[in-house]
Amino acid sequence: MDLLWLSPVYASPNEDNGYDISDYCAIHPDFGTMDDMDRLIAEAKKRGMGILMDLVINHTSTAHPWFQASRNPESPYRNYYFWRKGGKNGKLPNNWTGFFGGNCWEYDERSGEYYLHLFAPHQPDLNYYEPKVLEEIKKILRFWLDKGIAGFRCDVINILWKDSLDSSPKKLILTGSEHYLSREGTHQILRELREIFDEYNAYTVGETVFVSTQMAWDLCAPERRELHTVFGFEHMECDQTIVKWFKKPHKWGKFMETLARWQKDLPWNTIYLENHDQPRSIPRFGSEKYPVESGKLLATLLFTLKGTPYVYQGQEIGMLDFDFTSMAQVRDVESINVHGLLKSFHIPAALRWKIIRATSRDNARTPMQWSARPGAGFTTGTPWLGINGNHKRINVESQKNDPHSLRSWYKTLIALRKESETLLWGEFELLAATDTLCAYRRTYDGETLTVILNCCDAMQTVDYTGDLLLSSYGGKSFSGTLLPWEAVILRGEENE
Ligand code: GLC
Repeated sequence: MDLLWLSPVYASPNEDNGYDISDYCAIHPDFGTMDDMDRLIAEAKKRGMGILMDLVINHTSTAHPWFQASRNPESPYRNYYFWRKGGKNGKLPNNWTGFFGGNCWEYDERSGEYYLHLFAPHQPDLNYYEPKVLEEIKKILRFWLDKGIAGFRCDVINILWKDSLDSSPKKLILTGSEHYLSREGTHQILRELREIFDEYNAYTVGETVFVSTQMAWDLCAPERRELHTVFGFEHMECDQTIVKWFKKPHKWGKFMETLARWQKDLPWNTIYLENHDQPRSIPRFGSEKYPVESGKLLATLLFTLKGTPYVYQGQEIGMLDFDFTSMAQVRDVESINVHGLLKSFHIPAALRWKIIRATSRDNARTPMQWSARPGAGFTTGTPWLGINGNHKRINVESQKNDPHSLRSWYKTLIALRKESETLLWGEFELLAATDTLCAYRRTYDGETLTVILNCCDAMQTVDYTGDLLLSSYGGKSFSGTLLPWEAVILRGEENE
């Protein structure tokens, strides 16, 4: 079944693009009404598709009525969040540092205490020591599953349970994370929630931070009855030094080896190269000189690995990073926080900007480019984030009827992926992972598909053999030479 994953569309003050929910059972008016949502679910169903909702249950918005009530120390909701007294002279309850940089505690005048927030201050963490919290979450799950959605993408799901709130030895990033990363308490919560998912035959994919393949498997091995699949980050971290803010050049060898390790270690999982938290894939892993060609190569990688492929909006037409020029255009709370932190460390303005420009989540959050018209066919109003100037060149309309467009290549690959049992079920074997050439083989029921990716601006000759099934340049036969960023799929008998 094809699924359409919606980023959060719930009622929210939108301090973190909807990942700060103020009512889990209401639709944000910017996106429409509950009637629109019901219609979307029904129309998707008619087309054999399911809707995947974002489930953000590590934290709520401070605007959520639970949080507002919990500010009163006498309230029955007090325990829904982590409230703690500070020490003398403004000492915080612990020394943890958060995902968006800085400490994890915010003082609330009304309570006279601090509350824990692993993300922004308006995203207070829910306290799963209070059994009522899980009961509330279960009601929310049923609310949406009863409406007929197909499942959930579960936001930062491996950090729900905090073993303790003790201070920790200082780390460069996420001091304190050993108290909440993939703890047994989280596994228990997931097993409880799984009972509900199973009742509805619902699918789950967990966004899981800092997981090894073993930790990922512990979250989605079928017999453990927790999640179905997870989004790991390891392949997305190959071009960073310790934190994502400090980039190093992308190297295909390491990237492919990392993907291959996940392919080997897990019998099934997700495959993704883009999402709303990552810069666009073409400037990152491909070539500025060959954007369409490298976009086609990346698409080939996405659909020929083993697992469930995810395409992020605009990826299929080759949308590029936002062409913004100053912090005034940035809306991403993480970028704004980190920019402030870099400033407090006296990092010069030009370097600060370079860092934000390369890593900001806003790079991939600009409105969808439907056409070359003003507003990119997305809006006649003013969108929350600027529209990329390149929409005149890169848009759905111009690619729709062009058989050589990136969008058409995605359609070709999706069709192939649907009909090929080898791509669906085949064993994966890595053949080459250098910084300019990657190759792997998928084998199933006597058939072998060899995927060769020429990951550079030059031509290359290889000695893999087989009948040409597909070339991203549209060639009909394969001589052994690949054009810049060409991707080919060869078919052969097993052990040929
Ligand atoms: C996840 C989301 C991200 C959000 C964060 C806090 O990482 O993908 O967009 O900011 O969780 O909810």
